[in-house]
Amino acid sequence: MPELNLVLLGPPGSGKGTQGERLNADLHLPYYATGDILRGAVRDETELGKTAKQYMDNGELVPDEVIVGVIAERIDSEEAAEGFILDGFPRTTPQAEALDAKLAELGRKVTSVLLIDVTDDEVVRRLGGRRTCEAEGHVYHVEFNPPKVAGICDIDGSPLVVRDDDKPDVIRKRLSTYHEKTEPLVAYYEGTGVLTRVDGVRPPDEVTAELREVLAGISA
Ligand code: AP5
Ligand code: MG
Repeated sequence: MPELNLVLLGPPGSGKGTQGERLNADLHLPYYATGDILRGAVRDETELGKTAKQYMDNGELVPDEVIVGVIAERIDSEEAAEGFILDGFPRTTPQAEALDAKLAELGRKVTSVLLIDVTDDEVVRRLGGRRTCEAEGHVYHVEFNPPKVAGICDIDGSPLVVRDDDKPDVIRKRLSTYHEKTEPLVAYYEGTGVLTRVDGVRPPDEVTAELREVLAGISA
């Protein structure tokens, strides 16, 4: 199979994590979710975590120079030689340019960008009921995707928690940050011909089926 350098794009709550977990199980490629990496750093109280926390809690983006190095290091690693799945990166035009530059240095490029399209109202509806596994960030919803046992992750048995940034005022701020800083990437990747838009306001299995079809088309 040709190398697959994949980006999942979409607003907060569009299902990047939900779909990323499933594609990861299909594709066996390293899955780099910057939100999960940053939450891990906050939990471990590393320098990265101390810097990131204030931005995350306010629904703002951490500075480009902080996150670009984190991802560049992972992409330039043995495990990512056959490809990778990015969730939550890039999120600004400078980040997209930095990703292109890093890949060009390695003689590679972004193969596909999957935009999971959802409305702001749907985001607000979803994030109120989200529960996230403390250990690995596995994603659930109390109504739309409940765990088998309330409050416990099906996959690793760790407790499910409400994310610090899933409060109504922070959700609104995250949405406005998305529209201002990240949405321009839709045009950026349309310009390079790698973007596919998928309707995300459908049951998770339907979204997964369409993403799989798109990816089958790419690797055919
Ligand atoms: P991050 O963790 O990436 O948050 P986000 O982009 O706001 O996205 P979410 O994780 O909230 O949503 P998702 O699309 O993964 O949806 P999910 O699958 O969980 O980033 C957090 C913060 O870190 C940022 O605000 C920023 O501060 C910082 N950061 C991260 N990356 C950065 C970067 N590159 N640069 C700078 N700063 C960065 O689904 C949501 C809910 O809906 C779940 O409950 C799920 O079960 C449910 N659901 C999913 N699909 C469906 C469906 N089809 N129907 C019904 N319910 C569904
Ligand atoms: Mg996520």
